[in-house]
Amino acid sequence: MKEMLNIALPKGRLGERVYDMFDAAGYACPSIRENNRRLIFENEETGVRYFWVKPSDVAIYVERGAADVGVAGKDILLEYAPDVYELLDLKTGVCRMAVAAPEGFRDDPRRTLRVATKFTNIAKSYYSALGRDIDMIRLNGSIELAPILGLSDVIVDIVETGATLRENHLEVIDTVVPISARLIANKASSKFKDGAIAALSRALADRIGAPQA
Ligand code: PRP
Repeated sequence: MKEMLNIALPKGRLGERVYDMFDAAGYACPSIRENNRRLIFENEETGVRYFWVKPSDVAIYVERGAADVGVAGKDILLEYAPDVYELLDLKTGVCRMAVAAPEGFRDDPRRTLRVATKFTNIAKSYYSALGRDIDMIRLNGSIELAPILGLSDVIVDIVETGATLRENHLEVIDTVVPISARLIANKASSKFKDGAIAALSRALADRIGAPQA
């Protein structure tokens, strides 16, 4: 019998797009398309067991070996630095981490800059590289509200289409780092299931025409 690969996929629109890529690469699991509330799906023929995981938790499942591989955003990998291998840029879920502020905002370098974000580690290293003093305000969502209500001067957040910023009269001041979905692997699994993981990574890389990391 084929050795099963445990794969953590991010629940939601990105995960569905990612599953389509796995399917096209030869790792189908048709039951995953059934409309139900199940979280685990497996197909012994293709040797895969998929889990739907909250996107920000995928790296935890993979780091601790509950999943052999998974798909996580580069934002999560940079923010939490999980101890996993990053195998491949899947070139989907493309967006950027950016600094944004109310239209017309001018930074006064004599004052401590108030920064609202979910991504405190990314923001901290960005501003420390600039040598800029900041007051970090950690939020969990709807970050765009902070500068509108005067809670912060700027935000560091994900920008995809830019629609959320535009509708709230905010604009990008700087791009911190480009983001996309990455295939990641557990370190021990990469030894014990090296053949299966390498085959999956190669098949996905062939589909997207990307060189392997
Ligand atoms: C993300 C991000 C922005 C928005 C950007 O929020 O935090 O708010 O998407 O997308 P856009 O540039 O296409 O408008 P998400 O929906 O993940 O929710 P959040 O408020 O919980 O961060």
